[in-house]
Amino acid sequence: MTAIGIDKIGFYSPAYYLDLASLAARDGIDPQKYHQGIGQERFAMPPHDEDCVSLAANAAAAILTPEDIAAIDTLLLATESGIDQSKAAAVYVHRLLGLRPNCRAIELKHACYSATAGLQLACAYVAANPKRKVLLIASDISRYDMHSAAEATQGSAAVAMLISANPRIAALEGNAGCHTHDVMDFWRPNHRHTPLVDGKLSTLIYLQASEAAWRDYQAQGGADFASFAQFCYHLPFSKMGIKAHQRLCKINDIAEDSGKIAAGMIYNRDIGNSYTAALYLSLCSALDHRDDLSGELVGMLSYGSGCVAEFFALRIQDGYINQRRKNEHAALLANRQALSLAQYEDFWHRQEYSQHDNLDLPNYAGGKYRFAGIENNERRYTLREKA
Ligand code: HMG
Repeated sequence: MTAIGIDKIGFYSPAYYLDLASLAARDGIDPQKYHQGIGQERFAMPPHDEDCVSLAANAAAAILTPEDIAAIDTLLLATESGIDQSKAAAVYVHRLLGLRPNCRAIELKHACYSATAGLQLACAYVAANPKRKVLLIASDISRYDMHSAAEATQGSAAVAMLISANPRIAALEGNAGCHTHDVMDFWRPNHRHTPLVDGKLSTLIYLQASEAAWRDYQAQGGADFASFAQFCYHLPFSKMGIKAHQRLCKINDIAEDSGKIAAGMIYNRDIGNSYTAALYLSLCSALDHRDDLSGELVGMLSYGSGCVAEFFALRIQDGYINQRRKNEHAALLANRQALSLAQYEDFWHRQEYSQHDNLDLPNYAGGKYRFAGIENNERRYTLREKA
């Protein structure tokens, strides 16, 4: 059977971050609540001129060659940071990347889960049409009300993946296990810029749904827990992944091994929650920080509030080390600028929320593309003006 999966993968994250120690100092609380309690160091903060489109285009532009661009016939953009109720954000990205006109472009939504839905759809499509290539991008800005308990779990990133036959990074292996349950743990009605969230309930449901997805994966004939060399979890904050792993270890009667999750949390601790991108950012982190995963199985646990959970397996391909983007990822994070609390608050109050029809945004963004503003209700994206 032809292997199908991830041929290329890379992430982009905004050029600014807030150190969680600053947030703790502002609120007079112990910074260890963030560093140890939720397992986070800092979060990426997009400036006014970054949105889910510019983030996605920047992630994809970094991994694609002109040959890839000519070959892609489907673009799937997973996001819950949508900018329009009708027009798909994928269409702006299609133009910015110069994809061919006979390429379909679709936006997918289900909270943090939709990139996994996109991966399954893309792999099924390529399995039926092995010469085709799909560009899958997960792109999000996690934003909560200021001074809420969730504020420390903000963040932002986009992960781009090229899905093909005979992939060089990882192949999807076996059936997935799924669990869907209608629950109000986290949601964002159309009139709101920030979500409503029942934080404690959401962590409970995440754990219950993870267990149910794992049990379904087993019922579908999935691999034994012990046969996985690495696990990647949806990471709203890294402690959540640790708790999910503890739960799966317990129900499988296996001693906990933090060596199977630690490498997959390094980027997420520095970037914060990136919703749809978080699980795939964890995969980038594991690929970049584990010594050698060639031929090994990676267990992937996807969770999206509302809720859907899915457990699936990836087989890491021989030679993936030559394809990983460890140096580029390290440079992206090393070049970020720390924000003061005043700058953070300025970026948090996105100008586009208060002024809709015309808006000219100054250049803060650090990537190749930026959201330049709005003209007569039409969003404008341009190449960044170089300093
Ligand atoms: P909170 O209620 O303020 O925090 O916010 P807490 O009091 O529960 O403390 C957190 C942890 O820090 C606890 O550890 C404390 O003991 C510890 P735990 O008992 O859980 O192991 N702690 C300390 N540790 C060391 N030194 C100290 C200290 N003080 C306390 N001094 C909450 C936590 C998760 C509620 C909040 O961040 C929140 O609402 N976040 C947003 C919701 C969220 O991320 N939920 C996760 C599951 S749902 C999900 O993942 C989906 C999502 O990504 C959205 C989507 O699908 O689209 C969110």
